[in-house]
Amino acid sequence: MDFEIKDIKLKKEGKKRIEWAKNRMPVLGLIRERFRKEKPLKGINIAGCLHITTETASLAITLKEGGAKLRLCASNPLSTQDDVSASLVSDYGIEVFAIRGEDKNTYYEHIKKTLEISPQITLDDGADLVSMIHTNYKLQITDYRLPWAGTEETTTGVIRLRALEREGKLLYPIIAVNDAYTKHLFDNRYGTGQSTLDGILRATNKLIAGTCFLVCGYGFCGRGIALRAKGLGANVIVAEPDPLKALEAVMDGYRVLPVKEAVKFADIIVTATGDINVIRREHFLLMKDRAILANSGHFNVEIDIKSLEKLALKKREVKPLVTEYILRTKEQKNKRTKPKRIYLLGEGRLVNLACAEGHPAEVMDMSFSNQALSCEYIVRNYQNLERKVYRVPQLIDEEVAKLKLESLGVKIEKLTPQQKKYLRSWEEGT
Ligand code: ADE
Repeated sequence: MDFEIKDIKLKKEGKKRIEWAKNRMPVLGLIRERFRKEKPLKGINIAGCLHITTETASLAITLKEGGAKLRLCASNPLSTQDDVSASLVSDYGIEVFAIRGEDKNTYYEHIKKTLEISPQITLDDGADLVSMIHTNYKLQITDYRLPWAGTEETTTGVIRLRALEREGKLLYPIIAVNDAYTKHLFDNRYGTGQSTLDGILRATNKLIAGTCFLVCGYGFCGRGIALRAKGLGANVIVAEPDPLKALEAVMDGYRVLPVKEAVKFADIIVTATGDINVIRREHFLLMKDRAILANSGHFNVEIDIKSLEKLALKKREVKPLVTEYILRTKEQKNKRTKPKRIYLLGEGRLVNLACAEGHPAEVMDMSFSNQALSCEYIVRNYQNLERKVYRVPQLIDEEVAKLKLESLGVKIEKLTPQQKKYLRSWEEGT
């Protein structure tokens, strides 16, 4: 076995935590049972660039039970749970190349290591693996027709892949797991919502009630974050450039403002946009003393950290994963007032994974069930797939929803034959 992890001695803790997550992922558990018997992935090599968490471990174990050989690397340098990597390697025979806090170079070297197994299937979270293949391994695709296909877990990755597709440069088919309803309606909203607040609380232990809380971006992640911040008693402001989403935020009861206005009031500022420099120099200058900044978008580009560093007189770690920047502003030079403090959480990386444990297992159950079933779908159908970004087949999405409801003990209404007929007809009106 080949692997590169922090410390194999962490395996005991990792195994216990993986068990905890597995027990909270009943749909994936059912798929694992079936995969164990049917081995739909027999002989298939899978390379996964995912956050190495207890939930990802549950997915990896499921794919291995299905007969696959697996190599994993991290999809973010700060999201790896080292005890999980240790247990995956030693208890489950899954090769992992990931160390929490690895530098950029090591991060990319680890991606290359996963590709050494010449995977038929790639699993991506953010499209770094696909991007690596498209820049350094083109021949493998054209000469050997490998990979057959891949999956993409997150909004940012799907956006990058659709850009590749639009430019006619996508070299192999991808299934956009993010776009399944049983993924983004739950994982992005309730998963990101809860775990972002969890990350902020673990890092700062700050009372949220009564704070002014700015959410930049009102996609499903932003909606979840705003909802949970409101639930904890914050006064929530939303900044959103899309008129439809901004209108939705208004009707959901939030104050909607441009970032430049909102930062003047905000105690806590969270970005979840997928875009670059959402919070930048002009905003740092307008912020309140002791403003807290966190990012929940996939890449650490949403807060312009370079500008923050340039403005800072001093920088120091005041708590684990909380960096204090002391800024001198123009007015302060003249009036000799105290410099302003700004606190950045988790180095501007995904706050829910850097400062907490990521989305809870209950939502990852649905996301990763879509992943597992999409892998099976690829093995059965890859010869009919073109170089496109595909949605998860509706049958898979519905199956995941059905099984999740069953696992929750929820029974749903059945239409009568008369009702079904009525819905298919056009004759009957007023
Ligand atoms: N993305 C967000 N939360 C996650 C988790 N718990 N595991 C894997 N990927 C994630």
